[in-house]
Amino acid sequence: METLEAIATRRSVRAYEEGKQLTKEQLDAILKAFLEAPTARNRQEIRAIVMQDAAEINALNDAFMTYNRNSGRPFARGNTFHYNAPTFIILVAPRDFSYSEIDAGIAVENMALAATSLGLGNVIIGCLGQFFMREDGAAWRAKLGIAPEEMFVIGLAVGTQKGEAKKPTEKDGRVTFYKG
Ligand SMILES: Cc1cc2nc3c(=O)[nH]c(=O)nc-3n(C[C@H](O)[C@H](O)[C@H](O)COP(=O)(O)O)c2cc1C
Repeated sequence: METLEAIATRRSVRAYEEGKQLTKEQLDAILKAFLEAPTARNRQEIRAIVMQDAAEINALNDAFMTYNRNSGRPFARGNTFHYNAPTFIILVAPRDFSYSEIDAGIAVENMALAATSLGLGNVIIGCLGQFFMREDGAAWRAKLGIAPEEMFVIGLAVGTQKGEAKKPTEKDGRVTFYKG
């Protein structure tokens, strides 16, 4: 798929064929897209943590849902943060670097476009941020090997798309031309 076509057709996919895991080639291609993403000052310090064990992803989801309930802000998007996608990739980055979030944003879009061009559904997931930052997420930070000087920035859920994903309406007026 051409780059512009992948950009135009990528959609946030929120329903997946359950149990249909990515092939090794598909995962490798997505991770290559992550590794090839540019990073500010070429620091290359953002890391990807790949989760493919359904029981582990579900356990993380349970901890996240418990956190939401306890914090009085029930999760508004259904029962899972990952919509039962079989693969969830977490990007972590140094807390003390001002470009960490931008680096991770660029890298996650690289992965999303790679997944799209392979015909895979995907959705960028930021909703775990507060959970990972708080005490409630400490056990999972340790479990996933997220160091104290690192932070969760963003995640990507990937799998085989089930059903259609609708393109949202584009707001007008977001581009202006400065003519001096
Ligand atoms: C930084 C970021 C965080 C996001 N976090 C979530 C999320 O936690 N859950 C979710 O369902 N979608 C999430 N999304 C997807 C957006 O809701 C989606 O991109 C937007 O509605 C536009 O739809 P589209 O991706 O189909 O163009 C996130 C997107 C971005 C860029």
